[in-house]
Amino acid sequence: MNTIAAIDSAEKASEKAVQSTLLSPRFYTTDFAAMDRLDISAVRAEWDQMMSEYEGDNNHDHFQRDAQFAEEVAQRFSQVSPAMRQEFLDFLISSLTSEFSGCILYNEIARNIDNPDIKQLMRYMARDESRHASFLNQSLKDFGLGIDLGNLKRTKAYTYFKPKYIFYATYLSEKIGYARYISIYRQLEKNPDKRFHPIFRWFERWCNDEFRHGESFALIMRAQPHLLKGGNVYWIRFFLLAVYATMYVRDHSRPMLHEEMGLDSSVYDFEVFQITNDITKQVFPVSLDLDNPAFRAGLKQLFQVQTQMDLAKKRGGLVGLLQRGFWAASGAVTFARLYFLPVNHHALPDQVRMVPAW
Ligand SMILES: [Fe+2]
Ligand SMILES: [Fe+2]
Repeated sequence: MNTIAAIDSAEKASEKAVQSTLLSPRFYTTDFAAMDRLDISAVRAEWDQMMSEYEGDNNHDHFQRDAQFAEEVAQRFSQVSPAMRQEFLDFLISSLTSEFSGCILYNEIARNIDNPDIKQLMRYMARDESRHASFLNQSLKDFGLGIDLGNLKRTKAYTYFKPKYIFYATYLSEKIGYARYISIYRQLEKNPDKRFHPIFRWFERWCNDEFRHGESFALIMRAQPHLLKGGNVYWIRFFLLAVYATMYVRDHSRPMLHEEMGLDSSVYDFEVFQITNDITKQVFPVSLDLDNPAFRAGLKQLFQVQTQMDLAKKRGGLVGLLQRGFWAASGAVTFARLYFLPVNHHALPDQVRMVPAW
């Protein structure tokens, strides 16, 4: 069930991007002095290899439209239902906001530090995210819904995160972003008739950028091993759950998008979680147990809570307010129950880097 207001003008598209909710992508700022002090010498060889890949920039010519793009939009996308069109616009806006969020954060870090390793990395990643954001924005512009990114940068709220939270959260969002895009790409590669918009043809090379961004944070964390043990493991568990749960609830609130691709949201989400679990073993000593039926049930419950919250919000008034309070508390209890489920433990591999082989 989708409760978003119809996106039918550039103003509404911008409002949607500026919005700060529990589920919408956020903009971040951090402690630049601490970023400046990072030392990656413990992973120097793998780091240098990665930096030469960034320098080689194998996607420099990728984010350009081909001759068929406009035709596919006109022929194929014009056939989707109005409700489906709204879900896709919502998808474009949330994807754009999250790409642009990375772009701003990486740019700001690069501008505010002198540490040559981190500065160079942040410049490369900002370069990539800026291409991704512009490419998405072009598709919004096709419908007259382009977002003024300068304005978004000025008006959206920023959340302050200590560097370690930036590492956990951004690492996960890059890797889950890879897993999401590659799963969609593979599905549409097998079922080209389900490819209702040409932008999905770009996802394979695109998600290799995200994979590499994730690799960068993996190396940074492996070079600061205290971030991966002791009390910090509880933070890792928190971020794993927060990222997985957000994705589950957000995807289930726009079910048509996956149906149109021939995917079931729950099956797709668990496939993405499995890929993410397989990747995060490079850096996190724990992963969530996807086979535990209580995990699946808890996520379903969180989605129900979100649905009820949206209904209560619509209802408004005192009753609506009381209902919202009730469902917020219920959501918190469900999240806590999920948090305390047993997790899987792993030893970390000697070699950190992986290849995007999915
Ligand atoms: Fe990106
Ligand atoms: Fe990225």
